[in-house]
Amino acid sequence: MSKTHLVSGGCGFVGRNMVKRLLKNTEDRIIFIDDLSVGIHPDSWLDVPKSKSTESASFYGEDERLIFIEDDFRNTLHHLKVNENYFQETLDISFEKFADVFHFAAIVGGRAKIDGDPMMVALDLSIDAEFFYWICRHKPERVLYPSSSAAYPVDLQTDTNAIALSESDIDFARMGQPDMTYGWSKLTGEYLAHIAAKYYGVSVTCIRPFSGYGEDQDLTYPIPAIAARAASKENPFEVWGTGKQGRDFVHIDDVLDCTLLAMEKIKDGRAINIGQGRLTSFLEIIDIFTDFAGYKPTIKPLLDKPVGVHSRYCNMDWVKENLGWEPSISIREGMRRVYEKAVENKS
Ligand SMILES: NC(=O)c1ccc[n+]([C@@H]2O[C@H](COP(=O)([O-])OP(=O)(O)OC[C@H]3O[C@@H](n4cnc5c(N)ncnc54)[C@H](O)[C@@H]3O)[C@@H](O)[C@H]2O)c1
Repeated sequence: MSKTHLVSGGCGFVGRNMVKRLLKNTEDRIIFIDDLSVGIHPDSWLDVPKSKSTESASFYGEDERLIFIEDDFRNTLHHLKVNENYFQETLDISFEKFADVFHFAAIVGGRAKIDGDPMMVALDLSIDAEFFYWICRHKPERVLYPSSSAAYPVDLQTDTNAIALSESDIDFARMGQPDMTYGWSKLTGEYLAHIAAKYYGVSVTCIRPFSGYGEDQDLTYPIPAIAARAASKENPFEVWGTGKQGRDFVHIDDVLDCTLLAMEKIKDGRAINIGQGRLTSFLEIIDIFTDFAGYKPTIKPLLDKPVGVHSRYCNMDWVKENLGWEPSISIREGMRRVYEKAVENKS
């Protein structure tokens, strides 16, 4: 096997899509770790048979090139701090250095968790600090750190002052206030990424995905949840807040395409937007899904639910000009895919 990659949080939404993408597009070995606090066990989403299980891991495929470790990533990082050959010894495999390291292990959750349990989300600071410490010692070929659109200053996302957020709207010399502990931890992660690149020579790419969605996303997220309710012809149709608040929805396949391209070109810890560059309100999303379902419901606003900032969307000019990349899956096409999955899940 030519290369070995690591995916933390590899059973979460973005992580499992990346594992599947690497499986499809490479011949490389992929080690992925998840504590399954939110993630789904690979037995139920990996289309490759399990070849063996040991005390420390499950191996998939005849060539055993997929290796799943169920653990808190901080435990693994602790083992690596004590013994840099931890993986080689416990998994009985040989390789020098990781090629690509994707760090998706994080406490995320939707708006309910971001606003409802901010101190739990703050634990991301501890996961990320241990992570960056390790990569500065291990020095993999390339590192991907997912920041978030939540790192942007919230005062640029109000109903009276909402702009298409550009990468330069985050300036470490003149800081704005990010969105709750989630945004602060992401901003801190971006800062550590700069330090890792500048002081330790690690190749790091940061991405700020806006609202990533996809067919296999957890129902605690709005897009699959709205699709499922439309498929059941909910009426009246509940929406958190007025529904006029908007986001920049981007399909997971586009997120992965842009991420992998960015890793080829960005080495210095710079962060890029990944979105459509378009604001879509939740009312518009409901409209699209109920249109697919063939009915027009009465809207029932739930004004006591947390809604976050009013309008969050991005300017994709930098990415277009410097990476030559634009999203290829339109909102309607992406939502159609989610809707079809929701109908399939219902039957
Ligand atoms: N999905 C998006 O649109 C989006 C947008 C912006 C940023 N991001 C970032 O991308 C990353 C992945 O997000 P996601 O949507 O896949 O979230 P997710 O919750 O689906 O995945 C995170 C995974 O990490 C695992 N995990 C949590 N704590 C862990 C720990 N201590 N050790 C091991 N595993 C642990 C969870 O079980 C889960 O499987 C996160 O850093 C998130 O902030 C995602």
